Amino acid sequence: MYNELEGRVAIVTGASTGLGKAIAIRFGEEKMKVVVNYLNKEKEAKEVADLVKRAGGDAVAVQGDVSVEEDVDRLIQSAHEQFGALHVMMNNAGMQKEIPSHEMTLEQWNKVISVNLTGTFLGSTKAIAYMLEHKIKGSVINMSSVHEVVPWPHFVHYASSKGGMKMLSQTLALEYAGKGIRVNNIGPGAINTPINEEKFANEQDRNEVLSMIPMKEIGEPDQVASVAAFLASDQASYVTGTTLFVDGGMTLYPSFQAGKG
Ligand code: NAI
Repeated sequence: MYNELEGRVAIVTGASTGLGKAIAIRFGEEKMKVVVNYLNKEKEAKEVADLVKRAGGDAVAVQGDVSVEEDVDRLIQSAHEQFGALHVMMNNAGMQKEIPSHEMTLEQWNKVISVNLTGTFLGSTKAIAYMLEHKIKGSVINMSSVHEVVPWPHFVHYASSKGGMKMLSQTLALEYAGKGIRVNNIGPGAINTPINEEKFANEQDRNEVLSMIPMKEIGEPDQVASVAAFLASDQASYVTGTTLFVDGGMTLYPSFQAGKG
């Protein structure tokens, strides 16, 4: 627990499921006030808001598409109107869809880029504008992926969006470091959330994924949420422009694990 987080205000995008849900609840345990953003799962988002309150924080569920500028404005406005500030912007919403690159349409490419990369641009820059206006030394945390550095056939839009997020966050970190605003990425590996539900239900697919994880375990959402809490906290006050991989070693070239090569 990070005592200084008590009462601070966060927005978590895509928080009705998976990692966003776990992070919102963890922020609740830290007694933070959380805007629980959702795209279309209103019932689930309201349940998450209740869980945040039950954990000791405060929360409101707010609909919004992170790739739509007016919706992101509305999220920031909600934090201001409901809780009077914004200290932590957690850009978590994201999507993926398997398509061989030579079959990918421009529409399919644009969709993933607009949610994952443009959505993170909008959330980050609008949160920073708010923090500057209100003289808040805040923390922007962007949910990237191991695919920020690991190429991923059939997911060229996704890997490109996460690779772009690396430079987006580093550039913003450099630009606003002098104002005390920190910008960092979290890079999860394979975590047990709805985005992977189908893949992990298939034993062969699951074993293939496990073979790429040196720790030989699929990660759990709370193992990512604890890193979000750290990056939000003052314990990370000198950490900016970096990606914290939470991947059981997936980015360590697992094929070299046996010492061959
Ligand atoms: P998830 O599918 O449960 O969560 C994604 C959330 O984003 C959903 O709640 C969805 O409704 C929301 N969303 C999608 N488009 C949106 C939009 N336009 N506006 C607002 N919300 C939108 O899956 P998960 O795993 O929780 O994913 C969260 C983030 O973590 C994503 O950015 C994903 O790329 C990233 N990630 C997940 C990994 C994993 O193994 N689960 C690994 C690496 C990265």
